[in-house]
Amino acid sequence: MANDASAVFDTLSPAVSKGSLADPFTPPADSSLWRKNFLLGAATASYQIEGAVNEDGRLPSIWDTFSAIPGKVLAGDTGAVACDHYHRWEADVEMLASLGLEGYRLSIAWPRVMDAAGAPNRKGIDFYKRLLNRLKEKGITTFVTLYHWDLPQHLEDRGGWLNRDTAYRFADYADLMSCELAGTVDAWATLNEPWCSAYLGYGNGHHAPGLANDRFATQAMHHLLLAHGLAVPVLRANDPASQKGIVANIGRGTANSDSAADQRAAHLFEVQHNAWILDPLLKGSYPQDLFELWPGTEPLVLDGDMETISAPLDFLGINYYFRTNVASDGAHGFRDVPLEGVERTQMGWEVYPDGLRDLLTGFKETYHNLPPIYITENGMASDDEVTDGRVEDTQRISFLKRHLAAVDQAIKAGVDIRGYFLWSLMDNFEWAFGYERRFGVVHVDYSTQKRTIKRSAELVEKFLQERKAKA
Ligand code: FCB
Repeated sequence: MANDASAVFDTLSPAVSKGSLADPFTPPADSSLWRKNFLLGAATASYQIEGAVNEDGRLPSIWDTFSAIPGKVLAGDTGAVACDHYHRWEADVEMLASLGLEGYRLSIAWPRVMDAAGAPNRKGIDFYKRLLNRLKEKGITTFVTLYHWDLPQHLEDRGGWLNRDTAYRFADYADLMSCELAGTVDAWATLNEPWCSAYLGYGNGHHAPGLANDRFATQAMHHLLLAHGLAVPVLRANDPASQKGIVANIGRGTANSDSAADQRAAHLFEVQHNAWILDPLLKGSYPQDLFELWPGTEPLVLDGDMETISAPLDFLGINYYFRTNVASDGAHGFRDVPLEGVERTQMGWEVYPDGLRDLLTGFKETYHNLPPIYITENGMASDDEVTDGRVEDTQRISFLKRHLAAVDQAIKAGVDIRGYFLWSLMDNFEWAFGYERRFGVVHVDYSTQKRTIKRSAELVEKFLQERKAKA
């Protein structure tokens, strides 16, 4: 596609005030976002918001262990308290509903709902029952992720995702949850971002459990995908009315030059970030180029595994944040070549909405069985502060508008995209970056747990009200 999504929109003035006519967010009249069945919601994850890590029988997770190791998380932060959502969930649901958000994507903490022998932990399960029932009472569409990285530590002690048995334990967990929560969940996602679990967790060690070996990464990925594949039929049997899917993070890699070597590097970047997950799910095989990048790392795959992994999905969740500019590393890989003079966020990630559109339209070409898509995460971190009770998160407003425009362009190019979840509902524990990076559309003051609605959330709310009024 030739036109640049970011060029379509006005530069924002920080002076735009509440209620001003110059609305810097509302999509243009011809945007698909005006369709009232395009779901607009927000997302969170258990370890990032819940806190209460020792309460009501919750067991330790790999993130409790990892964040306690000095040097692993910025400023030594941990998820021990986080947004204290475990105690404040009622007010948080009120806040979500008051913003008019139509969907909420949350995750369940596996160590909260099962003991080490695999028996149900009633108190933990009841927490999610209360939460999901309240969300349904409010008319909010619920997307529930079973695994957003908080593996029970006792399973890691037995090898974690390097142990094939963990995939079977995951299927048991999916069984329990779907029996208990059927009827309150509109869509189940088995895993959030297996790339991060496998590569950051076992390949470079930046995330829990902190192991660093490419061969571990490919084997962990295989067991994660197997866990997904084993869980899908269980979810279908226990909760037939809901949708079943998985959430993948995708990365755009662009070549630093026209040279064949750099073009190849960009291709390999996308194989490593996208095809490594999407090929097994949608084609039933691993991309062979992955093993050019990481020679000798083929995982152990048993007969029937690839069929299990590639069973049809009702939806594919896509998380997108940024692009990476790469060049050949002179051997069989790629190296990052950060571009100068581009817009970046507090994470240092480049703002590049075209990447989202281009990847989505590319997937439609590559995968003929591409399921309906939900953008299950998109958003940005900024150094937001409350001034006179307000948070003017100008860059985020522009970011969201441009990325929603990219989604609209992909829809118009024929990609079946049914919804979009902001990451995140509120500032929270941003993994290895702790509490410093603020991704929320609601600000959290961690010393008081006070929530302050940011300007971005007000504008999303305003748009949703207008859309409702038109329907
Ligand atoms: C994604 C994670 C999510 C959040 C965002 C910023 O990789 O799924 O939990 O941390 O990044």
